[in-house]
Amino acid sequence: MWTFFFQRRYFHSSVCLLKKLKGKTAAEQRWLLRQLKDPYVKASHAQNFRCRSAFKLLEIDDKFKLLQPGYSVVDCGAAPGAWSQVAVQRVNSAGTGPDLPRGTVIGVDLLHIPPLDGAHFLSNHDVTDLATHGKLLELLPDGQAHVILSDMAPNASGFREMDHEKLIAMCLSLIDLAEKVLQPQGSLLCKYWDGKLAHKLQERLSSVFGSVRTVKPDASRKDSAERYFLARMYREPVK
Ligand SMILES: C[S@@+](CC[C@H](N)C(=O)[O-])C[C@H]1O[C@@H](n2cnc3c(N)ncnc32)[C@H](O)[C@@H]1O
Repeated sequence: MWTFFFQRRYFHSSVCLLKKLKGKTAAEQRWLLRQLKDPYVKASHAQNFRCRSAFKLLEIDDKFKLLQPGYSVVDCGAAPGAWSQVAVQRVNSAGTGPDLPRGTVIGVDLLHIPPLDGAHFLSNHDVTDLATHGKLLELLPDGQAHVILSDMAPNASGFREMDHEKLIAMCLSLIDLAEKVLQPQGSLLCKYWDGKLAHKLQERLSSVFGSVRTVKPDASRKDSAERYFLARMYREPVK
């Protein structure tokens, strides 16, 4: 009877899979199959995270304790909002820990970010735009953040070098944002795609942060060029 049950289940899930794959390009089919097999995708559904990237931040934060109750956080490239979900929990910005200090989470993205209790979102905003910096200054308590997070990424063109350079330029713009809103001793976590300009970004970060390290969480796919720089102990640049 169990054999019959499992055979039926297997048959049913195979039919569902075939339906999902129908009409898709080869690249889309590969992506879909990878999603279906990915344990982090399954876990993100089970734990109500908006996407699997939540586990990258959870892992980094478990190790480095970046996010503390009461902290103010700017989440750059926040859509669809999984990192903000993690930040809201960890800094207690929804006030779910009544005895803990209440933090602030502000997410920014070019795209629409669906609302989230405990977070303030600037949808359709460009993080590199000076007008966005102005809005962040107004929204942050005392105009200051303890942490800037960035999981920003440009739309991949397929040309690895070009995408790498574009993302590095976006990360460099975060140093200007830090100058405006990051408090002394604050932290910046930013995603980059590894390549020839990574050392340039690392040097620029090292000029204004006391420590800079590269992080590759387990949840980041092994075959991707994705890395994070974790820069800590911000000191304002000498002018
Ligand atoms: C990998 S997704 C971020 C996922 C997010 N961390 C999460 O956990 O839900 C990258 C995001 O960066 C955003 N992005 C790219 N360039 C941006 C810019 N200049 N300003 C704001 N957001 C940007 C994209 O729109 C995209 O939503």
